[in-house]
Amino acid sequence: MNNSPIGFFDSGVGGLTVARAVLDQLPHEQIIYVGDTAHVPYGTKTLEQVRRYSLAIMDNLANRGVKMLVIACNTASSAVLAEAQERYDIPVIGVIEPAVRAALAVTKNHKVGVIATPATVCSGAYEKTFAQNGNVKVYSQAAPGFVDLVESGVTSGLEAIDLAHTYLDEIRNEGVDTLVLGCTHYPHLQAVISYVMGGGVTLVSSSDETAKDIFRQLAQTESFRDPQLPKPKHEFYTTGTGETFSRLASRFLGPVVEQVDILPPSS
Ligand code: SIN
Repeated sequence: MNNSPIGFFDSGVGGLTVARAVLDQLPHEQIIYVGDTAHVPYGTKTLEQVRRYSLAIMDNLANRGVKMLVIACNTASSAVLAEAQERYDIPVIGVIEPAVRAALAVTKNHKVGVIATPATVCSGAYEKTFAQNGNVKVYSQAAPGFVDLVESGVTSGLEAIDLAHTYLDEIRNEGVDTLVLGCTHYPHLQAVISYVMGGGVTLVSSSDETAKDIFRQLAQTESFRDPQLPKPKHEFYTTGTGETFSRLASRFLGPVVEQVDILPPSS
C-alpha cells in the first residue's frame, strides 16, 4: 500500500484526458495535476525548452512526495521521458508507448496515421516506437492549431472542422485505418476528427492505455492507495491564469475540480 498521490503534468488541459481515465479506472487514487499554461503550447517550442519546463515541474511534484510521475503530454514525453526515468527514484510513465501499443492492436491494414505537435513529429518518437514494436507504415502530420482550439475551449463547430480538413485530408487519402491522437489535447476534438476521417478509421488516444500502465505499475509494486481511506481530495495547479484553467478543467473533468491554485511558472 502507498497512500501518496500520483503526479501528473501537461502544458495545459490536454493531460486531463489521461487524468480522467485514471479517475475512472483507479477511483481511490489521489491526483496532483499541474497544467503549465504559462508556457502552453509546448508543441511549437524546442525540445530543449520543453525539457527544462518539464523537469522544473516534475522536480516540484517529486518534492511534494508523489509516488509516481505521469508525463501526460506527448511533446514532453518525446523530450524528457528517458532522462526523467533516470533522474527520479519513483516510476515515470509517458504516453507514447501506450498509444503505439493500442494502435498496433487495432490496425488491420498496417497503415497508421499519427497527428501530433510539430515538436513531437520532429522528434521522430512515434516512428521510433512503432519501429521497435511492430511493422506498420506510419504517416505523421503536425496539427498545432488543435492545441490552441482546445486551450480556448473550442472543441466543435465549423472552425474546428475546417482546421481538421487542413490537417487530415492528406493522411485520410493515404488509406490509414487507424489514427493516433498523438497529443493529449486532441481527444477533446474526437468528434470533429472522427467526422473528418470517416467511420472506417479507428481513433486511438493514449489516455486509457496510459491509465492501464499506471494500474499495472501500482499492482506490480503493491502501491495502491488504501481503499478504506476517505475519498481522495485531488489537487489542480496551473502556472498561468487560474480562472481559465479552472473553467476548462471543470468542464473536461467534472465536479472533481473544486479549486485550482497557481504555481510560479517554471523557468
Ligand atoms: C502542446 O502543448 O503543444 C501539446 C502538448 C502535447 O503534445 O500533448
